[in-house]
Amino acid sequence: MNILILGGGGREHALAWAIKQNPKCDRLIVAPGNAGIAELAETAALDILDAADVLEFCESNAIDFVVIGPEAPLAAGIADALSAAGFLTFGPSAAAARLEASKAFTKEVCDAAHAPTAGYARFTGREAALAYVRQTGAPIVVKADGLAAGKGVVVAMTLAEAEEAIEDMFGGQFGEAGAEVVIEEFMEGEEASFFILCDGETVLPVGTAQDHKRVGDGDTGPNTGGMGAYSPAPVLSEAIQRQALDEIVKPTMAEMSRRGTPFQGILYAGLMIKDGRARLVEYNVRFGDPECQVLMMRLGAQALDLLHAAAEGRLAEMTVSWADDHALTVVMAADGYPGDYVKGTEIRGLDALPSDSSRMCFHAGTVEREGRILANGGRVLNLTARGATLAEARERAYAMVERVDWPEGFCRHDIGWRAL
Ligand code: AMP
Ligand code: GLY
Repeated sequence: MNILILGGGGREHALAWAIKQNPKCDRLIVAPGNAGIAELAETAALDILDAADVLEFCESNAIDFVVIGPEAPLAAGIADALSAAGFLTFGPSAAAARLEASKAFTKEVCDAAHAPTAGYARFTGREAALAYVRQTGAPIVVKADGLAAGKGVVVAMTLAEAEEAIEDMFGGQFGEAGAEVVIEEFMEGEEASFFILCDGETVLPVGTAQDHKRVGDGDTGPNTGGMGAYSPAPVLSEAIQRQALDEIVKPTMAEMSRRGTPFQGILYAGLMIKDGRARLVEYNVRFGDPECQVLMMRLGAQALDLLHAAAEGRLAEMTVSWADDHALTVVMAADGYPGDYVKGTEIRGLDALPSDSSRMCFHAGTVEREGRILANGGRVLNLTARGATLAEARERAYAMVERVDWPEGFCRHDIGWRAL
């Protein structure tokens, strides 16, 4: 099979690493890729939001299977364009990707599916939204409807914060994404992520994980894209996974099919767990980053068979085989992230890192220049390891961090604390 992966972050490096191990993979190309991906696959400079560009590339390279990593090309309809042209594609249509691209849409679908989630109200005007929060009080959660790179959610602990968030969103801070605002009941509990492959009909869970959203140790400081993750997430017991599948995931998938927009791809359900029950916080329509890194480390080569079966509508015949192990990833980011940071600083010591089936340095924002590896983004490296226990995985991951020579980078030192 000739396979094209769209994306160029740590998530796509992990996908490429797992897919490459499968003997069914002949040629592997990642667009745009990064310096780490270039060590195991071909890379191509493609505008992955431009359907014509992607189609032309697939035709001239006899691509058999396309895996779409990030949400932006999904929301832009790249999967639709590929499918219409006859290219087998992993990832939902733009209509189904609205489960991530519109929070109001997701709420509407949850209502129809009777899926447990936070109570909410929708607003297209500032005054009504302000009146609503003044009536309900805080804590309360204010969300811009559309995609806002993870920054469109304000968990307001005070009324003043809620009012400020509403002013910002209707003030145009998020452009079109903020034209509608969803205000939600604040849910207490422990958050975890549940990953489920879907082919429009069958659902197949492929793992659980927990992310670390805040930049600082002890969950302090501003939110980021994720500073580390581990899998499995012990809080998502078998019983809670079953409840989440039966009450949230399956009814949502059925509702999407009923609407004529079946979901095919990976559904990432962000759950809030309290008193032994899960409620939905949000859906994403792609693998999490860095959650994908720990899932791929545990799934290995079978990931290709699973993704391929989802795209072909054959999930009913698949099973996932799990090693009874744990994986953990530590994100190294450029100083200043998630605020301003500089690009172009040199990272040394990567050649000496172990790279085998239980230890990998996945690259996120890196670029190679004349044989040197340079930081090229906010989140830059994902030191990922597997172990018989979470403690062992963590020890191995941090042992790799120690060996990275990058004075301008930093990481959290407590990844996995909740589970350990
Ligand atoms: P989202 O982009 O919807 O995942 O929101 C980002 C983060 O905000 C989530 O991971 C939660 O930590 C938090 N959050 C979102 N909605 C709620 C809610 N209704 N109650 C409590 N926390 C929430
Ligand atoms: N790590 C969170 C996300 O990928 O959305």
